[in-house]
Amino acid sequence: MRILLLGNTGQLGWELERTLTPLGEVVALDYPAVNLLDEASTRQAVRGVVPHVIVNATGYTAVDKAESEPDKAAAINTRAPAILAEEARTLGAALIHYSTDYVFDGLKGSPYVESDAPNPLGVYAQTKLAGEQAVQQTGGAFLILRLSWMYSLRRDSFVTKVLGWSRQQRSLRMVTDQIGNPIWARTAAEATAQLLAMGSANTVSSTGIVPWLAERSGLYHFVGPDHASRYEWAQAILRLDPRRTEQVTEQVLPALTNEFPTPARRPLFSALGCQRFVDTFGLRLPPWETALRLAMEI
Ligand SMILES: NC(=O)c1ccc[n+]([C@@H]2O[C@H](COP(=O)([O-])OP(=O)(O)OC[C@H]3O[C@@H](n4cnc5c(N)ncnc54)[C@H](OP(=O)(O)O)[C@@H]3O)[C@@H](O)[C@H]2O)c1
Repeated sequence: MRILLLGNTGQLGWELERTLTPLGEVVALDYPAVNLLDEASTRQAVRGVVPHVIVNATGYTAVDKAESEPDKAAAINTRAPAILAEEARTLGAALIHYSTDYVFDGLKGSPYVESDAPNPLGVYAQTKLAGEQAVQQTGGAFLILRLSWMYSLRRDSFVTKVLGWSRQQRSLRMVTDQIGNPIWARTAAEATAQLLAMGSANTVSSTGIVPWLAERSGLYHFVGPDHASRYEWAQAILRLDPRRTEQVTEQVLPALTNEFPTPARRPLFSALGCQRFVDTFGLRLPPWETALRLAMEI
């Protein structure tokens, strides 16, 4: 199987390069080798590699900055996935694309399922939703995997920020009214590779992966079985920190989101239910606290 991986320097892409490599030939490209702001560059990346599967781990992920850069966010989050889906369909390849819990407005109050109506609150979320729709409209073989609060310890993330603050601040204030599914980038990368491995084990040739994915084409929520508030997540980070002795934080105080105004509005309750993914692929991502412990033991 030949896989084109886009965005291999990002949180998820970095992990994907490692988990996808045992499956075949992985050609990993990132900016500037491919520039998703340039349509010709995006198309050429696919045509030059002629992959069986494109895994798109790119994104314009600066949620607040997107409010002042809507065109750039749309080019990367909407237009580029549309081009990749077109190129995949033309080549007879499959596209795996990642989206976000932020497509929802957070008012439902219980975990969102794939059939729930999206209602994005900010530019990032709007452009990601439009990207999903463009991939779906293009057709062909595709999986759209909606992630939630993803972190890695390699790049700036909520986990690395909390660890940093814990070395400097005696008291932390964390919001109790934002609820989501923390997910370690490595577990998302591993589950992506496992589903491709399952497909390839059930097909006789490299091209067989495409109809196998086409039969399962669609939108899936792609997180663990449970959710947490940012307050609970921060407390677990402090508890599981292997270098706890370096912490100076003595207390974590509850706070509310409206005490910390940001340029972009975010959904308060954006937990995702992932039963469709479990039923379709027989795979499950770990509970968030299990993954956090494994991530922090490294
Ligand atoms: N992080 C989260 O909490 C979260 C939650 C839900 C969904 N998601 C989705 O999951 C996916 C991966 O997220 P992530 O957190 O791993 O993202 P990330 O760490 O921000 O990485 C994004 C990747 O996209 C690349 N990229 C950005 N602009 C590009 C351009 N013009 N041309 C080529 N490559 C470009 C980046 O390259 P450079 O490093 O060179 O800029 C980087 O490799 C995204 O689709 C995101 O929307 C993320």
